[in-house]
Amino acid sequence: MTQFTENNGALFVDNLSVAELAKAYGTPLYIYSQTAITQAFNEFKNALGDFPSLICYAVKANSNLSILKVLADLGSGFDIVSLGELERVLKAGGDPAKIVFSGVGKSVQEMKRALEVGVACFNVESEAELERLSDVAVGEGKTAKISLRVNPDVDAKTHPYISTGLKENKFGIEFNRAIDVYLKAKALPGIEIVGIDCHIGSQLTQATPFLDATDRILVLVEQLKNHGIVLKHIDLGGGLGVTYKDETPPAVADYLSPILAKLKDLKVSLMLEPGRAIVANAGILVTKVEYLKPTTEKNFAIVDAAMNDNIRPSLYQAWQEIRPVQSSNATPDIWDIVGPVCETGDFLAKGRTLAIAAGDYLAMFGAGAYCFSMSSNYNSRPRACELLVDGDTSRVIRQRESFDDLIRGELVGNA
Ligand code: LLP
Repeated sequence: MTQFTENNGALFVDNLSVAELAKAYGTPLYIYSQTAITQAFNEFKNALGDFPSLICYAVKANSNLSILKVLADLGSGFDIVSLGELERVLKAGGDPAKIVFSGVGKSVQEMKRALEVGVACFNVESEAELERLSDVAVGEGKTAKISLRVNPDVDAKTHPYISTGLKENKFGIEFNRAIDVYLKAKALPGIEIVGIDCHIGSQLTQATPFLDATDRILVLVEQLKNHGIVLKHIDLGGGLGVTYKDETPPAVADYLSPILAKLKDLKVSLMLEPGRAIVANAGILVTKVEYLKPTTEKNFAIVDAAMNDNIRPSLYQAWQEIRPVQSSNATPDIWDIVGPVCETGDFLAKGRTLAIAAGDYLAMFGAGAYCFSMSSNYNSRPRACELLVDGDTSRVIRQRESFDDLIRGELVGNA
């Protein structure tokens, strides 16, 4: 169920008017619904039922501290890929024993800190990383719990930039090498094998690639048993897609129930690393139309949000719905929605039929995942304010950046 509803042509988030929030806090403005996040998390929880499992929310999707706190309070674990994400989770009250540490390039410093706080598992992506981790753990007088991220060579059928489970991708350990690398891990002094892991891509809209990947992983689980390596968990990563336009991803329960059926006779727990499916449709980006610029070729609506606020359209040709926050009597026309950044690639949407006028607020939907978290200060633009709405109340969860924030850490000359 969506928390973004229309009432007499006005957009509401939970019980609050988006136009009023935009007036009060300015634009560009990210608004998230706590209710929507909670509902999405609970969909996973309910689908998993009594099956021994841990949902590790992928922090990269939206790493705001308040959002991490909402999820930590719901009992979520976390999938992290950097020291920064680790410290964010700890600051938000996340339980280190529910953290899995993914990523192809973990540094010594990152390993040390993760060992110190006691993360649940390192998802190891290469033999070189495995050796380094063992050395670091021995040096720290600890043992690192690991799973190997195996590349199952399954086509996720998604955008090439966010497809990760093919042989040609940089992620994971080659399927055919996996057993040998496990045997090597078994012999290393600083390593304790606890699981196996894969993540085949993001924004998957079909269940089949997940099932194919599960089958591939289960082949390895069986072979490992024959080598005396018994795993405690299987981590199938994240990747479940959402509806931005007309995609029809499986419901959480429909994607998980055949997976649970495959696992039910094995004595393993299931870990998942969903990001987008928890937060994408819990957020909007609100922007104001600065100018309308009709030309002989095209009509441009120049808005105050730009590619630095949401790079997904420029980077992945991503389509996210845009609607006026308040419907009006303006004559509908076809618009490219573009930002103030000095790049032709700076657009939020192209060829949208909208009835808009200068000064109107527009809402960009599906903006809870990979939008603010991928934002930048390009063109020296301060990053937007973020708000969290819960029923009748809203609170700022990140202040709009100031000029001082923009130049923090920079020096003028030698002074
Ligand atoms: N686990 C691992 C190891 C990952 O690499 C990712 C995402 C996830 C979990 C979470 O996947 P999700 O459930 O959110 O699909 N910036 C792109 C998406 C990049 C995804 C990177 N990895 C976008 O805006 O579409």
